[in-house]
Amino acid sequence: MDDTSVAAGSLPDEAATLALGAAFARAAAAGLTVYLRGDLGAGKTTFTRGLLTALGHQGKVKSPTYTLVESYPFAEYSVHHFDLYRFADPEEWEDAGFNEYFGPRSLCLVEWPQQAAGLLPAADIELELAVDGNGRSYRFHANTATGQSCLIRLSTPSAASC
Ligand SMILES: Nc1ncnc2c1ncn2[C@@H]1O[C@H](COP(=O)(O)OP(=O)(O)OP(=O)(O)O)[C@@H](O)[C@H]1O
Ligand SMILES: [Mg+2]
Repeated sequence: MDDTSVAAGSLPDEAATLALGAAFARAAAAGLTVYLRGDLGAGKTTFTRGLLTALGHQGKVKSPTYTLVESYPFAEYSVHHFDLYRFADPEEWEDAGFNEYFGPRSLCLVEWPQQAAGLLPAADIELELAVDGNGRSYRFHANTATGQSCLIRLSTPSAASC
């Protein structure tokens, strides 16, 4: 795809990662599936916390390392935050009904998507976070037209979210 499919930059501190999550919340739309890639401690949960706070969530954002998913209902759609680091049993995917979390009325964010390769629905957007000195770097890549529209809104902050 062309260069509207990519957005990248640096995040000097935790506040910058939170701000990126908040900006993404304003650009995002229901129905998106976002893979969050990056090593342990890269900032995936921090990004998610920034996004949820901007949508109006008050209180903690727990890392769903053991529960595998935490859900946050909002008026227009629900955010489902997966952390599949400990996911190992493909049967559990079906038993837990995880496919039903993905759909037009949800925004799904998935940490460690490679743990459920072949089971997970495809990503509209992949965000790669990496440690860079004392801070982090980020790179979004859109895989679908829906994802690409979101990245265009992300790079034009005055545009209204849909
Ligand atoms: N841009 C940044 N610069 C410096 N520190 C950051 C930045 N963004 C987040 N952090 C810090 O990195 C630490 C780990 O962040 P976080 O828990 O979000 O990582 P994660 O990618 O979700 O890791 P895991 O794979 O273990 O779930 C936190 O202490 C957070 O404050
Ligand atoms: Mg995490």
